Amino acid sequence: MEPEKRPHDPFEEWRRRDREAEEGGGAERRERQHAAGKLLARERIALLLDEDSFEELDRFATHRTTEFGMEERKPLGDGFVTGYGRIDGRLVYVFAQDFTVFGGSLSETNAAKVTKIMDLAMRVGAPVIGLNDSGGARIQEGVRSLAGYADIFLRNTLASGVIPQISAVMGPCAGGAVYSPAITDFVVMTRDTSYMFVTGPDVIKTVTHEEVSKEELGGAVTHNTRSGVAHFIARDDAACLALIRELVGYLPSNNLEDPPVRPSDDPTDRSEPALNELVPADPRQPYDIKQAITAVVDDRRFLEVHELFAPNIVVGFARLDARTVGIVANQPAVLAGCLDINASAKAARFVRFCDAFNIPLVTFEDVPGFLPGTQQEYGGIIRHGAKLLFAFAEATVPKITVITRKAYGGAYCVMASKHIRTDINFAWPTAEIAVMGPEGAVNIVYRREIENAPESEREALRQRLAAEFRERLANPYVAAERGYVDAVIEPAHTRAKLIAALRAIAGKRDANPRKKHGNIPL
Ligand code: HXC
Repeated sequence: MEPEKRPHDPFEEWRRRDREAEEGGGAERRERQHAAGKLLARERIALLLDEDSFEELDRFATHRTTEFGMEERKPLGDGFVTGYGRIDGRLVYVFAQDFTVFGGSLSETNAAKVTKIMDLAMRVGAPVIGLNDSGGARIQEGVRSLAGYADIFLRNTLASGVIPQISAVMGPCAGGAVYSPAITDFVVMTRDTSYMFVTGPDVIKTVTHEEVSKEELGGAVTHNTRSGVAHFIARDDAACLALIRELVGYLPSNNLEDPPVRPSDDPTDRSEPALNELVPADPRQPYDIKQAITAVVDDRRFLEVHELFAPNIVVGFARLDARTVGIVANQPAVLAGCLDINASAKAARFVRFCDAFNIPLVTFEDVPGFLPGTQQEYGGIIRHGAKLLFAFAEATVPKITVITRKAYGGAYCVMASKHIRTDINFAWPTAEIAVMGPEGAVNIVYRREIENAPESEREALRQRLAAEFRERLANPYVAAERGYVDAVIEPAHTRAKLIAALRAIAGKRDANPRKKHGNIPL
């Protein structure tokens, strides 16, 4: 007897659906996406992940809206591509908004697709990467779409500090939708093709009569330089995705793991004689702290985070002895390395990320103090500066500080001083550690003596007293006598000293008092 044949070929149906899902919004819209200088959602995922490693979920999901003629348009996948794959062999979860399908707008269905992969990522402890390119809430779905956003925001918040979350903004990202990337750890924006704002140029014009372009208001340059919303700028989609791959390489998969080890041929005892000449003889002369950073880290590779925002402080990832470290460094080449509002908030957030993800902190310090001025005081430098102090103080990861030159006043305490639980504190012989700079100090301490001197002699007296002050107090030795500085080291040997110190404190276990959470001054 012949076996009964199926009435239709199930494989044919499956292949048909598969092709339809691949189509997205159709050839014309796909072409438009390319013409706008943007890649398609699946092309982006292919570049982000290791070759052929992407496994898609919910490829055949559809929206459930019947109003506004939506019943007739039910593209498979509904405009989001979600799933998991590998970066350098390591598991990551990913979603990508497909602008060719209803403008990549977020429907109830899409929100469920995203929360599904976020829940999986949380369960197994893997990073989530979101590729954003969307017109925002699916207008036809009303509050169901808003509910979907809120479901994602909740998960972004709960996942914060548990798994790394990275957002690429590669097209529009407007309205409340911006708050998902904003909660994630890192935001990368593509130049010329992306923008983020809460209210767009048209609304702004109506409400405040200001005229501003999308680019000026919320383009990649704006958010990298002015608002600090974005941490990286990439020249195009491919560069953006390559950068995310590089970033993931520095991070652990979750808060219970250590960052990946990346062996290097760079000798751990490599000395760098040029560092002995880095700090200029004149204490008012600037120099570039990035030269010190790149000189000491493995293979001179430093991935700077927030490079264009508050450049008076430098933060980023590097490796020492094959292991990831978070670098925080005052930058004497910008605003003399003063701490201001933006620098404090930038560094505080970075320090907290490193602390959450078991990344040791290496701090290079050359800070004359907090930036003076009414703008800073009215803007709340007290509140914002406190963030950095709080972040360094609560951090329980291994912490090492190198004072290269100035460590003055409150900024000395803030910048990972011994007193706030830094494990190893080094100083170069060029370090000046004091309550304030010699010139300011003599003007206060010796004001009467200077005023009483004949006018013609005042300047010479001031200079003599300042020189005396510098010799007696503005050096590393008073701190070294007290043990606030553990060792005064030759700058050329900083790499070897840092690696030895990291090895000595690698097994550190430290904890904060039990509490629900602290109350960082926001
Ligand atoms: C449904 C949308 C959509 C949306 C775009 N589309 N945005 N569909 N809901 N939010 C559709 C369009 O109808 C069009 O469909 C396709 O996507 C492409 O849109 P175009 O306008 O042709 O593209 P473009 O000229 O490039 O302009 C892109 C855009 C614009 C700037 C994003 O579409 C736009 O302004 N959209 C609305 C943005 C918005 O106001 N969203 C709500 C924001 S508030 P067809 O079929 O023609 O291809 C928000 C709140 C979040 O999101 C809630 C968080 C709490």
